[in-house]
Amino acid sequence: MAANRAWAARMSDEDPDYFARLASQQSPTYLWIGCSDSRVPANQIVGLPPGEVFVHRNIANLVVPSDLNCLSVLQFAVEVLGVKHIIVTGHYGCGGIGAAIHNDRLGLVDNWLRHVGTIMRDHQAELEPLSDDEAQARLCEINVRTQVLNVGRTTIVQDAWSRGQELALHGWIYDIRDGLLRGLEADIAEPDALEMLTHRHH
Ligand code: CO
Repeated sequence: MAANRAWAARMSDEDPDYFARLASQQSPTYLWIGCSDSRVPANQIVGLPPGEVFVHRNIANLVVPSDLNCLSVLQFAVEVLGVKHIIVTGHYGCGGIGAAIHNDRLGLVDNWLRHVGTIMRDHQAELEPLSDDEAQARLCEINVRTQVLNVGRTTIVQDAWSRGQELALHGWIYDIRDGLLRGLEADIAEPDALEMLTHRHH
């Protein structure tokens, strides 16, 4: 609470209209879909203030087509807020990915991570020759590309593109060790690009 008071005072000092402006409306350009990991806070990593990024986070940054929570965020972001970019951001050293690779028993979350297990089996041939660390890092990347494809295949994004709405998807990965984001060549702005990434990905 004390930190919040100090922050709010600092923001108001820098820009007296800041909170009044934000209170009247939000019009973020970006939807961020990232991991719940405490070391990967969306706004801080990209250096953007409140009001710029609409955020959905869950364990291992998954976009599951039956997840009403994620789909609701996606639909609201695209159709009501009109975001122009959807960024799926994974991170190296993701505990969810590691647990799936090692088949750890952690409890209820194991059911959620079965989605990662499926992706892992789909890419077994690519992962098998790698060392444990390399395989885990590669699966973090593969998972991001898979989730970008999952976003692109939703009715929400397909309908937006059919309407001619400007909407681009991106896959990024964050490195906790140096604080840097890297693109995963998973940038898609129309259905044909989605098909191309699908073929390259398999
Ligand atoms: Co994670």
